[in-house]
Amino acid sequence: MATMAPSSLTTRPALAATQAGALACWHWIGRGDGKAADEAATAAMRASLAGAPGRGTVIIGEGEKDEAPMLHNGEQVGDGDGPEFDIAVDPLECTDLCAAGLPGALTTIAMARSGSMWSPGPALYMDKIVVGPAAREAIDLRATPEENLSAIAQALGRPVEELTVVVLDKPRHETLIARLRAAGAAVSTPPAGDVAGALAALLPDGGADMLMGVGGTPEGVMTACAVAAMGGGMQGRPAPQLDEEVQALAEAGIDTECVLGLEELVSGPALFVATGVSGGGLLRRPWLAGGQQHTESIVIAPDGVQRIVEGAAQQ
Ligand code: FBP
Repeated sequence: MATMAPSSLTTRPALAATQAGALACWHWIGRGDGKAADEAATAAMRASLAGAPGRGTVIIGEGEKDEAPMLHNGEQVGDGDGPEFDIAVDPLECTDLCAAGLPGALTTIAMARSGSMWSPGPALYMDKIVVGPAAREAIDLRATPEENLSAIAQALGRPVEELTVVVLDKPRHETLIARLRAAGAAVSTPPAGDVAGALAALLPDGGADMLMGVGGTPEGVMTACAVAAMGGGMQGRPAPQLDEEVQALAEAGIDTECVLGLEELVSGPALFVATGVSGGGLLRRPWLAGGQQHTESIVIAPDGVQRIVEGAAQQ
């Protein structure tokens, strides 16, 4: 069976899915019900993906960590007619921000060749380090935060004092944030959203130089697809946060000391697409104009980065 590399064949269905997801959960922004928002996005994306050409397998979906409705791991999508491809999907990234009506929520999906995505099994959380192309050889998850800062500073030809790192504002990151700041870097600490944080480090105008810290594995695999498409650098390592997760990883024989390089997270060409849900610096929230519903999306593919604004007739 042929496998599909990212191309216009996969870009259009991926974009259609994130757009459909964003429009479906638009009504739920600020209504205090993240589960309903997630369900709306998931149902719309699943329906949209059903018509995608080929046979997609969800390698990693949302749902395991938050017990959210699924495009579940192993689920097959697509019209079944054509090549196979892998999917990583988070129908609503930053559910809580959407529920609270705060900026930062996105619908997200990534696609790559069949068999090329890391399957994290029972690993729900992973430690991540992400940088743009110029610093991709400088990162090392086994080194200290200070060592990473100085290697990245050298690769970028700028002092550490001019670097900005994104780290999620979580109790588990208190020491990391303090150490990065003590070393001279600026640290930006959003309450949620390490996919957007990684994009801030990856995109030339993103406003950051590195993402560090522990976040979800679905977000990690999707991020890896964006990193691969842009030629950036990334390493990851399972970092269980819950007692039952520690046990599940031990039972599955997953080594939490093992650092995964970009090639192990996704080998080969990949595609990442996100559509804005609740607005913010990265992507606008949906809006009405001229009787049409509009969305803003970002497509990160091996042939470049595109921002896409499209309108559709109001449902
Ligand atoms: P959700 O949409 O699943 O809530 O993800 C938001 C997020 O901030 C991710 O960007 C991040 O990877 C993960 O949650 C971190 O998990 P937690 O909030 O449990 O620490």
